[in-house]
Amino acid sequence: MNNQQTHKLESNSKIYYEQSNMYNIFSQAEDYKGLVVDFLKPLILDKKLLDVGCGTGKYVSVLAPLVSEYICLDQSKTQLEIAKNKTNKDKISYIQASAEKNGLNSNSVDVAIATWVLGSILDIDQQLAVLKETERVLKENGSIYVAENDGGCEFEEIIRREPNISTTKQTKDWLEEKGFVKVSSIDTYFEFNSLKDAQDVFYNIWGSEISKRVQSEKIAHKIAIYEKKVI
Ligand SMILES: C[S@@+](CC[C@H](N)C(=O)[O-])C[C@H]1O[C@@H](n2cnc3c(N)ncnc32)[C@H](O)[C@@H]1O
Repeated sequence: MNNQQTHKLESNSKIYYEQSNMYNIFSQAEDYKGLVVDFLKPLILDKKLLDVGCGTGKYVSVLAPLVSEYICLDQSKTQLEIAKNKTNKDKISYIQASAEKNGLNSNSVDVAIATWVLGSILDIDQQLAVLKETERVLKENGSIYVAENDGGCEFEEIIRREPNISTTKQTKDWLEEKGFVKVSSIDTYFEFNSLKDAQDVFYNIWGSEISKRVQSEKIAHKIAIYEKKVI
C-alpha cells in the first residue's frame, strides 16, 4: 500500500485503527446541520436497525431512542469503543466483525443503514459480499439506506486527487447497477471548531497537499441518499 492510500478513508484505513479520535472529529463535523438524521428519522421509527460500518457512532445516540433495537456493526474495535461511549447502551448491541459475515440471523432486521461504507470498500468482491450479507439479514420488504458523497461540491473538489476520476461517480454507478435508487440529495456542510482543526483532520486523513486546500472551518458538502428495498 502506498502512502497516499493509507491516508484515504478507504475501508481498512489506518485512521479507523490508530486515530479513531481524529476520525471522530471528522465524522462529528460532517453534516453539522443533521439533515441526514432528519431524513432517516421517519424511516426508522420503532424498527430494528442495523448500522453497517457504524464507525465512531455518529448516528447511534440520535437514532437509538427512536428504534426498537439498534445494532452497531464495525470491524474496528477502536471505532466501536468510541461509539459505545456515546450512549447509555439501552436497546443497543455492538458487533465487531466484518460486514461480509455479520453473524446475525437471516430475516431479522427491518432497516439497515450504511453511511460512507460501501463506497469505501475498494475490492469489488468484498463490496458485493457486504451488500449481499446485509440483504440476507433484512426481513421481507426491509430497506437499506446508503449515504455517500454527492458530486459537485466543495468537499469533493478538496479531496479529489485526479481531475478526471470521480470515486463519487463510480460509487453512484455501482449502487444504481445493484438496484439502489437515489432518493435525496442533501445540501449541507462540515463545520469544525476552527480552521486549524479542519486542516489537522484533513492532513491526517489525506496528507499535506489536500489539507492545504482547506481554507475555512466550514466546507460545503452534498450528500446523496440511496434506497434499496429488499423484496
Ligand atoms: C468512512 S467510515 C463511516 C463510519 C460511519 N458510518 C459514519 O458515517 O461516520 C467507514 C467505517 O466502516 C468500517 N468498515 C469498512 N469496511 C468494513 C467491513 N467490511 N466490515 C465492517 N466494517 C467496515 C470502518 O471500520 C469504518 O469505521
